[in-house]
Amino acid sequence: MMSKAFSFTLLIVLVSSSSCFGKPRKVHPSSKNCNNIHSGSPKTSVLINRYKDKFPNFSQSSHCHGHGHGHVHCARRRPQQAIIIDVDHFGAKADGKTDASEAFMNAWERACKSSKQSIFLVPRHKTYHIRRINFTGPCKSSMKMEIKGTIKAFSELYNDTKRFWIMFHNLRNFEVRGGGIIDGNGEIWWNNSCKIKKTLPCQNQQAPAAMTFDNCMNLKVTNLHIQNSPQMHLIFKDCVNVKASYLKVTAPGKSPNTDGIHVTRTQNVDITMSEIKTGDDCISIVNGSKTIRVLDIVCGPGHGISIGSLGENRSENHVSDVLVNGARLSGTTNGVRIKTWQGGSGYARNIVFQNIQMQNVSNPIIIDQNYCDKAEPCHQQKSAVQVMNVVYKNIRGTSASELAIKFNCSETVPCRGLVLENVYLTRQGKGEAEAKCSNIIGLDNIGRSVSPSCHNFSN
Ligand SMILES: *[C@@H]1O[C@H](CO)[C@@H](O)[C@H](O)[C@H]1NC(C)=O
Ligand SMILES: *[C@@H]1O[C@H](CO)[C@@H](O)[C@H](O)[C@H]1NC(C)=O
Ligand SMILES: *[C@@H]1O[C@H](CO)[C@@H](O)[C@H](O)[C@H]1NC(C)=O
Ligand SMILES: *[C@@H]1O[C@H](CO)[C@@H](O)[C@H](O)[C@H]1NC(C)=O
Ligand SMILES: *[C@@H]1O[C@H](CO)[C@@H](O)[C@H](O)[C@H]1NC(C)=O
Ligand SMILES: *[C@@H]1O[C@H](CO)[C@@H](O)[C@H](O)[C@H]1NC(C)=O
Ligand SMILES: *[C@@H]1O[C@H](CO)[C@@H](O)[C@H](O)[C@H]1NC(C)=O
Ligand SMILES: *[C@@H]1O[C@H](CO)[C@@H](O)[C@H](O)[C@H]1NC(C)=O
Repeated sequence: MMSKAFSFTLLIVLVSSSSCFGKPRKVHPSSKNCNNIHSGSPKTSVLINRYKDKFPNFSQSSHCHGHGHGHVHCARRRPQQAIIIDVDHFGAKADGKTDASEAFMNAWERACKSSKQSIFLVPRHKTYHIRRINFTGPCKSSMKMEIKGTIKAFSELYNDTKRFWIMFHNLRNFEVRGGGIIDGNGEIWWNNSCKIKKTLPCQNQQAPAAMTFDNCMNLKVTNLHIQNSPQMHLIFKDCVNVKASYLKVTAPGKSPNTDGIHVTRTQNVDITMSEIKTGDDCISIVNGSKTIRVLDIVCGPGHGISIGSLGENRSENHVSDVLVNGARLSGTTNGVRIKTWQGGSGYARNIVFQNIQMQNVSNPIIIDQNYCDKAEPCHQQKSAVQVMNVVYKNIRGTSASELAIKFNCSETVPCRGLVLENVYLTRQGKGEAEAKCSNIIGLDNIGRSVSPSCHNFSN
């Protein structure tokens, strides 16, 4: 069965690897410049145009430039041959009821074992239902997964503790793209969440993430619509060198725990040109993450951009070198947030939030070092995750609550080195916006327009 299928799928095409974006087959081979951003979907170009005048450097993503960490996809310029592995040739049926998991798995094995560069293809205009799947590497050569159609989960609960639907494990030089849809079909999970059905115990919260990338190196995820995940939509875990761009992530504002993009123990990440509208954090960055750039993002509804939570259960957590440059948040419960539990250790440091528009955001600027998300109250503890060197620059817009700026730092481990520059937030509707800032060593309000201004007060 395998060899027969294979003979059908041995379609050799010429792929110009000189392109960094979009659809290689359409890019002229002589185009060497990675600045030519040809995004696939019309929606993303709308997004770009909307921001062009607001942030002059909007379209300058760091792809292919600058940081020198193994940008394999951009470095190769020589055209290469790639084999197309089409799931249809492995028996995948897009009839709305057949489980295509096995066909996908067989196609994956073929693609992964190929010593030539391969493209795993999910054809357009079709919807394939799959169950939980674990795409595992390492693969013999670099591979692309081109999702042009829709991949959808069945509406079913899994009764186990695995927390994923589509897993990518142990891959190097891998790319997922194609303009298609990944649909987690999560409503059945939301209905059975303890946050929705208060009578259900929360220990049973094993809802899976839609797409998890675990242990990867040199990964690119671009031009996809990921929607309605049972829980988080996209997780990068234990990865190095990740580029996520032109993504649209959507789920209802009331869907529980449906973070857009979650980054954990991952270094050197660019998340750019994406629109994230979900029921939880737009982007969450937690322990072990370093050198994370978030550029040109639209968020809301949801809980905003979050560093943390950190330090839960007295853990030692580290997050550093995070740049959020160019974001518009509307109707979110938080804007830019750092949250840590009492009793933890480690740090969140060297963080810049700049060029951000807030529209009716409940807590536009917030550091909460007394974060507590447990049923029983968290008691006072001496140790804390150190929050240090955080810059808020060019942040404007409206706050849905009166408290536009809240720095609730730890009494025992105060925040150090916070800078507010050109921050201007007003109250949505009537009333004045306020700032409450406590336990800070080294707080600078720079420029005339820091409003509301924040004055440190120590307990
Ligand atoms: C835009 O980029 C240029 C060149 O990298 C830089 O000099 C300039 O300061 C940037 N402008 C903003 C608003 O970030
Ligand atoms: C996925 O499969 C690989 C190989 O069988 C295994 O090592 C890995 O633990 C699996 N991942 C998960 C999350 O089950
Ligand atoms: C889930 O599995 C556990 C242990 O195997 C079992 O006790 C429980 O009844 C199952 N729950 C459902 C909803 O199937
Ligand atoms: C989820 O709950 C809503 C409201 O009760 C209901 O209309 C819907 O059919 C449920 N969906 C699933 C998949 O269980
Ligand atoms: C935090 O991340 C670091 C670096 O990846 C890891 O070594 C450590 O075990 C993590 N700590 C916790 C509590 O998960
Ligand atoms: C912290 O401990 C609680 C209770 O034991 C557990 O439910 C939770 O998952 C732990 N959190 C982390 C991040 O380890
Ligand atoms: C602003 O946000 C608040 C709280 O989320 C909401 O009640 C209100 O309707 C919003 N106002 C506008 C104008 O969107
Ligand atoms: C800061 O956190 C403490 C401890 O949870 C709480 O009592 C206090 O009300 C908070 N301050 C603000 C301004 O929310």
